[in-house]
Amino acid sequence: MESLKRHTDYGNEGMTEEQAGHDPFALLAAWITDAEAADIFEPNAMVLSTVDADGAPSSRTVLLKGLEPSDIPGAGLEFVSNYLSQKGRALATHDRVSLLFPWYGLKRQVIVSGRAQRTDAITSDAFFDRRPHGARLAAIASDQSEPIASRDILDERMAALEEQYPEGEQIPRPEKWGAYRVIPNRFEFWAGRSKRFHDRIVFTRTDETDETGDWTITRLQP
Ligand SMILES: Cc1cc2nc3c(=O)[nH]c(=O)nc-3n(C[C@H](O)[C@H](O)[C@H](O)COP(=O)(O)O)c2cc1C
Repeated sequence: MESLKRHTDYGNEGMTEEQAGHDPFALLAAWITDAEAADIFEPNAMVLSTVDADGAPSSRTVLLKGLEPSDIPGAGLEFVSNYLSQKGRALATHDRVSLLFPWYGLKRQVIVSGRAQRTDAITSDAFFDRRPHGARLAAIASDQSEPIASRDILDERMAALEEQYPEGEQIPRPEKWGAYRVIPNRFEFWAGRSKRFHDRIVFTRTDETDETGDWTITRLQP
């Protein structure tokens, strides 16, 4: 590891309280836009961490599919997945999650904590219908996180589905697949600075019971 190129300087852009503003949803949306403008591959990718029934944590990348304005009651961050997957099973027992956006190229990171819940069926249907044809079939074909004897079996399943549902055909959303919404109670925005003397600004709900209320803003030491 010593031979790796070392990055001693994380730039000095940082972030002031003024730049952070008062709305973490708006700041997150702005940073995703910046990541897209910087040509970062999958600027909406985030690492979702869950805890299973035994208390074991696990992490994986998912894509942020929806980010609602913060003044909507129950506003949150939406992603789609398989409800019976490893993460789906974990979420069925523990709804508390961490979401981490790793924009190393921008020397930025956001960590969101909150509770994940399944969205209603109409929301899941809308996300499903927006998926490209192949991705809809893949959602049906894959029993995500389950072992399979070979790639060939998966390809055969896909071929059979392509025959059953040619392009343009209505495809019903499988029950095992749908959307989750994470209702956040904490956002941490991290912006790199020189000398590893970075900026960290945290937003927490001032009144935990008020889903549309003000946020308390705290600066953390790097
Ligand atoms: C860039 C990227 C985006 C991904 N997006 C999703 C996604 O939106 N939903 C999903 O279920 N898996 C997505 N995956 C796959 C997951 O990381 C993971 O392999 C899968 O969900 C199974 O996770 P689990 O076994 O922990 O449930 C993505 C992977 C990468 C690398």
